[in-house]
Amino acid sequence: MTMDAMVPDGLDTATPNVARMYDYYLGGKDNFAADREAASRILKVFPDTPVAARANRDFLRRAVRHLSAAGISQFLDIGSGLPTQGNVHEVAADARVTYVDNDPMVLCHARALLGGASDVSIIQADLRKPESILGHRDLNLDLSRPVALLLVAVLHFVTDDEAPYDIIARFRDALPSGSHVVISHLTTEGVPEEHVRAGRAAYKNATAPIVPRPRADIRRFFDGLELIDPGLTRIAEWRPDDPNTPRSHGFAGVGRKH
Ligand SMILES: C[S@@+](CC[C@H](N)C(=O)[O-])C[C@H]1O[C@@H](n2cnc3c(N)ncnc32)[C@H](O)[C@@H]1O
Repeated sequence: MTMDAMVPDGLDTATPNVARMYDYYLGGKDNFAADREAASRILKVFPDTPVAARANRDFLRRAVRHLSAAGISQFLDIGSGLPTQGNVHEVAADARVTYVDNDPMVLCHARALLGGASDVSIIQADLRKPESILGHRDLNLDLSRPVALLLVAVLHFVTDDEAPYDIIARFRDALPSGSHVVISHLTTEGVPEEHVRAGRAAYKNATAPIVPRPRADIRRFFDGLELIDPGLTRIAEWRPDDPNTPRSHGFAGVGRKH
């Protein structure tokens, strides 16, 4: 059964929703006609988006696996998205994980699917208000020990007017030495201007606008951190499992706080 057949009361299905559009690219069923219509405008211009979305998910899993093997046992996953396969607490099985998203449907599904797991906490909050996350009573992380902050495919929903670099700095300053920040981000690099415009237009009336950025602007998110090997790369090229990496629509990296 698709979600269209069982719409919960009060859910806005008419506005294209960035979490559900991503679910559609990943082949999920938690999306509605308006989401699919906006997503299909993206697919017209960027037909390999489903491959790129899976590559992004794979990056998240590789980064979590890497950090987990390096001894990190706490993860703060902001903009966690609709639960899919290989969620953070499944990859880092013994870790404490807090999932954060500002979308009510994500929260509803996350609570239903992930809430039973021990050491997992789920918070509805907004990345643009760091204090509402860092001070949240359900944050199940010990901020005196290293944390991996995951901002995977979410910073491109924060506009320049919303001070994205100040947001990152606030989190970076709140986390102790040995913490890591994991970022993937859509780019304008190598994308024809009219495609960038069409992409932005498809998200214009969605729950968040999309802001792909040039590589140098994405690199700035790691200011004050040491980029661990192999640095800021195309998303699929960050410590790939398979040398035949698919096409990526953005850059990814992991920064370490000294
Ligand atoms: C493209 S999905 C990425 C999901 C997951 N991080 C991944 O990479 O597979 C972006 C998610 O970020 C969430 N999001 C967008 N803006 C946000 C904000 N200001 N605060 C918290 N979550 C946000 C959306 O609701 C959506 O679930």
